[in-house]
Amino acid sequence: MLSKKATISIIKCDVGSLAGHYIVPKPLFDIAEKNLKKATENGIINNFYVFNAGDDLELLMVHERGEQDKEVHKLAWETFKDCANKASQLKLYAAGQDLLKDAFSGNVRGMGPGVAEMEIEERASDPIVVFAADKTSAGSFNYPLFRIFADPMNTAGLVIDPSMICGFKFEVIDTKKNRAIVLKCPEEMYEMLALIGTVGRYTISRVWRASDDLICAASSVSKLSLIAGKYVGKDDPVMIARAQHGLPAVGEVLAPFMHSYFVQGWMRGSHWGPIMPVGLKSSKCTVFDGPPRIVAIGFQVANGQISSDDEGKPMLADMFDDPAFALARREAMQNACMLRNMGEFEPARLSAEDMEYTTIQKVLEKLGERFKPLN
Ligand code: F6R
Ligand code: MG
Ligand code: MG
Repeated sequence: MLSKKATISIIKCDVGSLAGHYIVPKPLFDIAEKNLKKATENGIINNFYVFNAGDDLELLMVHERGEQDKEVHKLAWETFKDCANKASQLKLYAAGQDLLKDAFSGNVRGMGPGVAEMEIEERASDPIVVFAADKTSAGSFNYPLFRIFADPMNTAGLVIDPSMICGFKFEVIDTKKNRAIVLKCPEEMYEMLALIGTVGRYTISRVWRASDDLICAASSVSKLSLIAGKYVGKDDPVMIARAQHGLPAVGEVLAPFMHSYFVQGWMRGSHWGPIMPVGLKSSKCTVFDGPPRIVAIGFQVANGQISSDDEGKPMLADMFDDPAFALARREAMQNACMLRNMGEFEPARLSAEDMEYTTIQKVLEKLGERFKPLN
């Protein structure tokens, strides 16, 4: 039976961190939790969970106000501002890093924070997995989203479950030209791969089941460098995936992370790095400011909120806190060592085009005057 509409909003921001770009410290969590608790009492959101992906503060909120709601975005913006002020007082590193604009204008999109939102009509039971990554960029979810919703070698349901045989539709954003296209798989799989393999430019932003346009995934697409016109830190994207009963199973949603894969955005936003799936206890970046990490939080949405226990506490599953991902973690470190052996040589470092918005531009500008034409 279809019932209530619930909106899942994950809004994140690097507001300042401890020991360089390592982790969000407790005083900032406390402020975020206090603000969101008050917003729950005031009826803006129904409940929430605050967590971190490395140096990014992640606000997971469930409510019934729809996507891009002014009150919900204002709550996130003001919470990030409060946290950044505290970070400044504590002289934490890069306080307010991602707050790129001064005045809030009704929506945090384009202002620095990353946003993924999904309004759903609640099914009888609605399992959701939210992903958050640190030290990486917006196109990093192209590969797992393709595997989950288009690759029958990953998702058995595409072959076995008759309700998925219709395939899925993907919205792909061209971040350089600020335009979008919807492609349907399996029919347009090759055309889609031609685009989304260029992870620095094309980003899958939404996925729907083709038979009934049921929304099943949403991810953040903001590229901080394109907003600011220069390097200002990592996009560190977030993604929401809906699972089970005619959609990929939670296990199929997690299956692409059995192995590590390469993403852009490691050290200084200028390097490729292997993604490392970790539990929340290891959600902290260390070596060479990484390796890039990803956490996955599973939950059920019920009656407009994150399903809660008898004491009203949201029930959450720290999905990568599992030995099943130990191999991926090991692969990540092996591949990290291989890339770091290459130092500043491509492909360890991003291509010249992808370095366009990094601090290396200043070095190149300085050298520019010294180049002499060859006769
Ligand atoms: C920031 C990040 C880091 C920094 C690096 C240099 O999000 O991921 O890799 O780019 O630590 O930072 P600065 O220039 O602030 O010393
Ligand atoms: Mg940072
Ligand atoms: Mg970060």
